[in-house]
Amino acid sequence: MQRQRRLLFGGDYNPDQWPAETLQEDVRLFKAAGINSATVGIFAWSKLEPRPGRYEWGWLDDVIEHLHAHGISVILATPTAAPPVWLYQLYPDVLPVDENGLRYGYGSRRHYCPNHPAYRHHARQITTELAKRYGRHPAVTHWHVDNEYGCHISACYCPRCVAAFRQWLQQRYQTLEELNKAWYTAFWSQTYGAWEEIDAPRRTTTYHNPGHVLDWRRFMSDSYLACFLEQKEIIRAFSPGVPVTTNFMAWFDGLDYHAWAPHLDVVSWDSYPPTGADPAETAARHDLMRGLKGGRAPFLLMEQSPSQVNWMEYNRPQRPGEMRLRSWQAVAHGADAICFFQLRQSQGGAEKFHAAVIGHDGGSETRVFREVARLGAELARVGERITGSEVRAEVAILFSWPSWWAVEQPPRISKGLRYVDEVMRYYRALWQQHIEVDVVSPDADLSRYRLVVVPLLRIVTPELAQRLQRYVEDGGGLLVTYHSGLTDVHDRAHLGGYPGPLRRLCGVWVEEFDVLPPGQTVRVRTSESLVPWDGVYEAEFWCDVMHLEGARTLATYEDEYYRGMPAVTEHRVGRGRVVYVGTALQPKGTRDLTGWLTRSLGIAPVLDAPDGVEVLRRWPVVEGDGDRSSGQGPILFILNHRTTPVTLSLDGTYVDLLSGETCSGSVELSSRDVRVLIASPSELQS
Ligand code: GAL
Repeated sequence: MQRQRRLLFGGDYNPDQWPAETLQEDVRLFKAAGINSATVGIFAWSKLEPRPGRYEWGWLDDVIEHLHAHGISVILATPTAAPPVWLYQLYPDVLPVDENGLRYGYGSRRHYCPNHPAYRHHARQITTELAKRYGRHPAVTHWHVDNEYGCHISACYCPRCVAAFRQWLQQRYQTLEELNKAWYTAFWSQTYGAWEEIDAPRRTTTYHNPGHVLDWRRFMSDSYLACFLEQKEIIRAFSPGVPVTTNFMAWFDGLDYHAWAPHLDVVSWDSYPPTGADPAETAARHDLMRGLKGGRAPFLLMEQSPSQVNWMEYNRPQRPGEMRLRSWQAVAHGADAICFFQLRQSQGGAEKFHAAVIGHDGGSETRVFREVARLGAELARVGERITGSEVRAEVAILFSWPSWWAVEQPPRISKGLRYVDEVMRYYRALWQQHIEVDVVSPDADLSRYRLVVVPLLRIVTPELAQRLQRYVEDGGGLLVTYHSGLTDVHDRAHLGGYPGPLRRLCGVWVEEFDVLPPGQTVRVRTSESLVPWDGVYEAEFWCDVMHLEGARTLATYEDEYYRGMPAVTEHRVGRGRVVYVGTALQPKGTRDLTGWLTRSLGIAPVLDAPDGVEVLRRWPVVEGDGDRSSGQGPILFILNHRTTPVTLSLDGTYVDLLSGETCSGSVELSSRDVRVLIASPSELQS
């Protein structure tokens, strides 16, 4: 695969909406802003193929040539997220159907049934023509297939989809008997006697069958994936070596990104935090997206807004300095591209008040343009050094889409049971302690981590339990929380006591669990004789009532009918250990617990930094080198998310790549400022 040589700086560009003359001016302004990449064609299907089989390439030829002539590379998109009106005239049933059986209308975007053969045929056609024409063009650095698969709509309930679902199930289960077993259809008389009897889990009286819903979601994710894969195959044939991606949306529950990720040459995603958003939330999303490819390889930030968006309830502009800080945050977490939606603000259409690099004023005199241009200059200065470098975290958090789906499928055990929130409970605690984290699939290779955190992993297979067992025996640290290991891949309870296949590994038996309504807490006491921290913490939301089976107690409940029983335990297994946390400790408790655990596992914070300051590293690598280590020290990113200045101590002398300044012993950062440091050459030699 073609290696990316520079940090890309650009974004969605829609010259298809503008008269041809605009191009010259756009490129002039792009250059002034340091923009070196443009993503074109995303929603341009009707402009490229105004009538079926009649193509108009002239305008795109000019755009690509002109960009190329000015050193601006192209991320070329297939336009299949916005089918042209003629497709609906020819095949009205390309329009998807909702769970109430109502067909959507057209005139928006993403309104297509992923299993409609005519949609698929025409999508393949336009992709083939595009790839043939531009596949070997030297300007094209990446292919961007469709746009945000699953966005707005992630399931279609039309008869074609139901028929495809039945086929998918037949392949998965072979026999109806197997399917009935997997879905536990003896419950509520749901047994199927023929494949044709199976429907989509559409609107019904009350709760659906959980196995049915899980498979339907897997199937729908696979249906969109099939759309991606057939385009990718075409592109691969006509555009060898050019990486193919599609833009993801981080914690988006419509698709199982772990099932998708192996098929992308590089992961890309779109980040839209509102102004003032918690930086830990954005950080976690980056780490989830980077984790899709195992945690080390860079990703592309395919979209972010240069200021306000147009689809929130209150669309506030990003505060001065916020966009720059967020962009550097993305780079620090592994981004090798910083791209905006959008480069030029559209004059009409639904997104005309969404911020853009070039606004409706049409010039470079705006605050937004100036901030973009400043960032462009900075990225140009240091981009080459950063491109391709890796993040190397020692801690992983396991994340699973099927567990997320299962946990949040009604009826929930607690209305407050929100999977991502519980993952964030741990992520945030680690982030606050400046510990780098990969958020990865339960199938990921865990061997390089010192600590693996398993929050709320409801679905655990015996194979995963075995892998975790080996990981711990080999010296790994494992933290498992309540509501893990309860069910199998069909969301049927594991028999033999909770936490199911993790029971032996955790050394506890969870007999039952209490669910605390909002506002109610239970005290949990640790004691210095057990762990080197002593205190009473508030726990909320969930309390496992459990018994030791080889583990020892680290903390006990102080209230309720389970007073005196273990709340947090530790089990030594082989050369490693497992901490089981049976409750949701409030932030202070989670922080103290993870702080103690990481320290005792020898995991050090990147730097000692105050709250609201984020510090991360990227490690330069050498191509083709077995251990990929370049022998160079890391690039250190310090991000001040606070609105006040801070001073941090440094353990030596560093050079700031942005300012050229030397920082010795300490470094100051003003509000929302960023430092990109490397150890000064003399330090590295010593
Ligand atoms: C993204 C989408 C873009 C644009 C943007 C607006 O989700 O991919 O096409 O709509 O949102 O913020």
